[in-house]
Amino acid sequence: MAIDFTVRHMKKSDLDAVFLIEEECFSVPWSKRSLSEAFSHTPWQFFVAEHEKNIVGYGGVYMILDEGQISNIAVLSSFRGNGIGFAILNKIIDHSKAQGAVRITLELRESNNPARALYEKCGFIQVGCRPNYYTHPVENAILMDKNL
Ligand SMILES: CC(C)(COP(=O)(O)OP(=O)(O)OC[C@H]1O[C@@H](n2cnc3c(N)ncnc32)[C@H](O)[C@@H]1OP(=O)(O)O)[C@@H](O)C(=O)NCCC(=O)NCCS
Repeated sequence: MAIDFTVRHMKKSDLDAVFLIEEECFSVPWSKRSLSEAFSHTPWQFFVAEHEKNIVGYGGVYMILDEGQISNIAVLSSFRGNGIGFAILNKIIDHSKAQGAVRITLELRESNNPARALYEKCGFIQVGCRPNYYTHPVENAILMDKNL
């Protein structure tokens, strides 16, 4: 059965919880300091998913002129498959539109089928590939775009 959650703007007090999600979900996580600096930097906007007062997912987007660049969307493994990633991504899309973006871009590991399926479900298409872009392990990056 689906769980109840809400997606809202991230607050400074969410930083520790978001950092834990980064650590759980990525082999090369953002440091707490990088997250904190990005959080305080206006072109960035972060959203969190909250379930019973716990932060269980988050996503971030960086606005450059008329383009939104998604940094990450991540959901704690035990909460996946409940529509949380989809809800965070839609929040990012709505936010980017409201900021006047005409396009959203992102990159992801070539083997990341769950994320690719999520982005395709929301209308993103593959527009390129950066060979050996990622480390730990080395892997190609797939570039995806969505026109708003
Ligand atoms: C990618 C991720 C954010 C998806 O979050 P989630 O909350 O589990 O996703 P949702 O439940 O909202 O699923 C939405 C859609 O994503 C796709 N999807 C999600 N998990 C999937 C899986 N394991 N296999 C295939 N497709 C999957 C499906 O299209 C799904 O739609 P459907 O339920 O109608 O089939 C999550 O797997 C995650 O945190 N992964 C680790 C971090 C990461 O790799 N982030 C992306 C890099 S930027």
